[in-house]
Amino acid sequence: MRDFTFQNGTKILFGRAAEERVGAETAPLAATVLLHYGGGSVKRSGLYDRIAASLADAAVDVVELGGVQPNPRLSLVERGIELGRRERIGLVLAVGGGSVIDSAKAIALGIPASCGVWDFFEGISKPERALPVGVVLTLPAAGSETSPVSVITNEEGLYKRGFRNGLLRPRFALLNPELTFSLPADQTRFGAVDMLAHVMERYFTNEADVELTDRLCEATMKTIIANLPRALARPDDYAARAELMWASTIAHNDLLDTGREGDWASHRIEHELSALYDVAHGAGLAVVFPAWMDHVVGHDLRRFAQFAHRVWDVEPDFFDMERTAREGIARFRAFLRSCGLATTLKELSIGDDRFDEMARKAVEKGPVGTFVPLGEEDVRAVLERCR
Ligand code: NZQ
Ligand code: ZN
Repeated sequence: MRDFTFQNGTKILFGRAAEERVGAETAPLAATVLLHYGGGSVKRSGLYDRIAASLADAAVDVVELGGVQPNPRLSLVERGIELGRRERIGLVLAVGGGSVIDSAKAIALGIPASCGVWDFFEGISKPERALPVGVVLTLPAAGSETSPVSVITNEEGLYKRGFRNGLLRPRFALLNPELTFSLPADQTRFGAVDMLAHVMERYFTNEADVELTDRLCEATMKTIIANLPRALARPDDYAARAELMWASTIAHNDLLDTGREGDWASHRIEHELSALYDVAHGAGLAVVFPAWMDHVVGHDLRRFAQFAHRVWDVEPDFFDMERTAREGIARFRAFLRSCGLATTLKELSIGDDRFDEMARKAVEKGPVGTFVPLGEEDVRAVLERCR
């Protein structure tokens, strides 16, 4: 096991009516907030009005900026920075899913900065400060509610890039599973795949002696696998929605990679797909992750066989570890399909004409992944397996 530092300072309030605490949680941190949201689901559900009322009760002034699109864009972030500076806001409040939260984080980073915010995503500058961010989560998926990461798409050149810094961890996250009853089935599916992917990126490691985090990863994956079908069958199943919502946070709050090194090649490759084709992150991962597994399974048959046995209940074949390993990948794909997810690019109407471009962009800053570092040819080979 590696040495590590683990610090996650996000205060989490979980449960029914958690969002009604928003005024009380915000007031000690800021007198004026930028209320940031997406394309309108929060208005349709009535959540926006409840948030506004809670902030008004706590005497917090509100400046609003809606319109965040899935795969959030840099141009709106820049508008938010301008608006936030002009109105002297003290906190960015994200009400939505990963895209809204990531956009809010980038605005919070950009407001006090002396350089352009994209410089941070490019690694040209390092931030010294950021405004605090608060979250009311409506979609369990990206784990951005407690992660120190923001993922933004720069429309110029279609670059989708993540930036990780402790300053980005939200100060508080209000998690009410009831807010997810209104999710369309596709968003529920995509969200669950993203959570599974966050665990698997950490699970496939070269680090030895990581028994506890292996077991925590396996428990989280099994919980997601058990509860996704329940939430799809009955969208207002509180118990299933609550398990998924907590899993979203647990999968990506960095606890599961304590003492180990994550891989992240599948995420890097998927971000190229989202950047060029604007596919939902989870939809892209359902295609890329099993293809990545097919590509790297030979690197550590023992780990893949463990995944097969402990997560997918495959009976181990002690004389043929590869068979066990491959059966695990087959069951993972079958599960995705049984939940209504596409597992090929063809089903997403994506052809092979831009594989070279995606492979080149994915490795622009060097090979991707640590379990098996992938160069341009390997990324291309993974994309070939996605067809
Ligand atoms: O925009 P509105 O109208 O609100 O609708 C949204 C949006 O269309 C809708 N939605 C959200 N909550 C709803 C709802 N509809 C009905 N009822 C609700 N309760 O869902 C749609 C998708 O929302 P989005 O925020 O884009 O989804 P998600 O949470 O999956 O976030 C995806 C983004 O997060 C990034 C991804 O790359 C992608 O850009 N990621 C961020 C990470 C991080 N910051 O740590 C890590 C992840 O690996 C990921 O890369
Ligand atoms: Zn993800």
